[in-house]
Formats: sequence, structure tokens, C-alpha cells
Amino acid sequence: MVQGSSAAAAIGTGGNVSLDTAADRYGVKPYPDLAYTPEIAEATAPIYEKVRHVIPAIEWPVHAPYVYHINRLKAERGAIILAHNYQTPEIYHGVADIVGDSLQLAQEAAKSQAEIIVQCGVHFMAETSKILCPEKTVLIPDSHAGCSLAASITGEDVRLLREAHPGVPVVAYVNTTADVKAEVDICCTSSNALEVVESLGAKEVIMLPDQYLAAWVASQTDVKIITWNGACEVHERFTGDELRAYREADPSIRIIAHPECPPDVLAEADFTGSTAKMIGWVQKENPGKVLMVTECSMADNVASEAPDVEFVRPCNLCPHMKRIQLPKILDTLVYMSEEVVLDPMMAAKARRSVERMVNLKS
Ligand code: 13P
Ligand code: SF4
Repeated sequence: MVQGSSAAAAIGTGGNVSLDTAADRYGVKPYPDLAYTPEIAEATAPIYEKVRHVIPAIEWPVHAPYVYHINRLKAERGAIILAHNYQTPEIYHGVADIVGDSLQLAQEAAKSQAEIIVQCGVHFMAETSKILCPEKTVLIPDSHAGCSLAASITGEDVRLLREAHPGVPVVAYVNTTADVKAEVDICCTSSNALEVVESLGAKEVIMLPDQYLAAWVASQTDVKIITWNGACEVHERFTGDELRAYREADPSIRIIAHPECPPDVLAEADFTGSTAKMIGWVQKENPGKVLMVTECSMADNVASEAPDVEFVRPCNLCPHMKRIQLPKILDTLVYMSEEVVLDPMMAAKARRSVERMVNLKS
């Protein structure tokens, strides 16, 4: 991965070194002047309108020049920005072309006509885009944006699991590295996990690496699930006691939770689903007051579009998602860094597992 320099080589998973960097191919642009001019104030005013509930007016002159120049450079480069639902509002509403959950971002990456994808999310999401679009240039504003689930398992671990459970199909949550995806039969996300497991027609399935997502799927199917002991460092911090306390304080509150939460948390939820499904639930149900049991930027993003709903935010931030910030996105478009480069053989094997999921007919 390139560290903000046009001269640096691109180093990808598998240790490959390529001297043909994105900066070599596309060139470096002049770094813009970040003054908050009247022209920038006027051009970004409609964007500020969308985020004014969550970004104080005094902060906008800091964000606006970045938003303006990122959007300008994005158009000049013919790039698109894919942003996960956990990105901060100035990214989600200010510069993203496509927003969504992991499945939606993977599907949009596959459909996109753009030659350059800037992935505002964590590293496994950028890898998934590269796996699906090997011919495109995929950039991530901070390649150290990891994920505790992706870090919990390696391709070698999957090979050992297969030896221990011969013939049992393996499903990998997309929150895994390309090396793991290359070793499994199919991927899943939190929005299609049950469907993927049942599509295999097997009595027993290995589902890794999230023990809680696996437990949630196991609670809804007769398929026996063998799992791994990975967990999301953000969602595992919620507790059932905490949610009961919120409900005791206000019995009218509705609680919706991500399936990466532990079972005692999900037992208290009125609805469980992926980040996109949680957003869909709020838009459909229009609850008076809702507690979103997930990363807290998401409530900010949805709050901008649902002004009548009161959001209670038990604020657990994902430190990896928060590495992606406007100045780094600007650097990405100026310097064409950091590029995601994968070993082609590994990427081809991983593509089979991701495409099998994307092509699954519901
Ligand atoms: P979604 O697929 O629901 O967006 O989840 C991704 C993730 O990392 C949640 O922590
Ligand atoms: Fe990974 Fe959890 Fe962050 Fe999602 S919220 S990217 S699962 S650490």
C-alpha cells in the first residue's frame, strides 16, 4: 500500500511489489488552497443544509473546503466514492456517491462504470471492491483502517478448520481478509447470512469469524453452525443490562440492534439487522424514539434524514472507521494513494466466494 507518495511502490496482500503505482498511471494533482472562500461557501451550502442538525455552523468552514475540493477532484479523476454507513456525516452526506452496508457497497462496486474507486470504510471493504473489480484502481484513504473481526482469523486457520471438519462447507463473513475469502466456499454479510447458510443445503456449516453473527443465524435455522471465536470490538461492548436500563427509563423506546451484538443484547431488541436494514426499519416504522445499538455515526447520518425521530446514542465508535477523514480523502485524490493491490491468484480464488454471494438469488 502506498503511503501518500507518488514514488512509493504499491505493496499488497501476498507481499507483491508493483512499481506501476496509481500515481504513476494517473499523475499527481496540485494540492489545493483550503481557504473558505465565498465561492466555496455558496457551492457547499446545499450540503450543509443536510448536516446542520449534526455539524455546528462554526465547524462548517473547516469541512467545506475539503468537501468542495474532494468533489472537484473526484469529477476530474472520474472516480466514485463508496462510503459505509458508519462514516461521519461530512463524508456520508458531503462527498459520497454511494452509501450503504457491506453488501450494498460490494454490489455497487461490481456495477460501477468508474475506473477509480475510493473506498471510505475499512480495509476489508476496499479489498472486497478490488476482488470484484480487479481491473479498477481501488484506493483507501488510510490502509490501517482494520477490523477486529478481520484480524481474528487467517487463511491458514481456515485450512486447519477444514482438516478438523472434512466436507463441511465454510461461509466467511465479508469482514475477513482476501486471504481468508480465498479459502472458503462462499461469503456472507449481516444482511444475507441466514440465506447464504441455508443456500448450501448442508446439515452442518462452518461460519466464521463472528461468534455472535453465527449464534444469531443458529437461532433461526436447523443447520448446525460451527463457529470461530472472533468478535467485533464495537458491538461486543453493548450489554443486555444497559438496554434494559434504557427501557425502564422510557418503556416507549424502540431498540434496534446489529447482529454482531452478543445474544443477551439481541434478546432485548425489537429488530435485528444489517446497518442498511436498520436504516430501512427507521424509515418504515418512523418510531418516536429509537435506540440504535451499533456504531454511533450511523445515528447521526440517519438523523439528518429523519428529523421527527429522537435518536438515543449509546456512543460506541469504531476506531478503524474513524481513521477515514476528509483530509485523508483529499490526499487520496491528489496523490492517488493508498492503492489496494492483491495477489492475482489469491484474488481470483476470493472472487469465487464473493461472487457466489453477490449472485445468490433470493
Ligand atoms: P454491515 O454489513 O451491516 O454494514 O456491517 C458491517 C460492519 O462492519 C458492521 O460493524
Ligand atoms: Fe469491524 Fe466492528 Fe469496526 Fe465493523 S464496527 S469495521 S465489525 S471493528
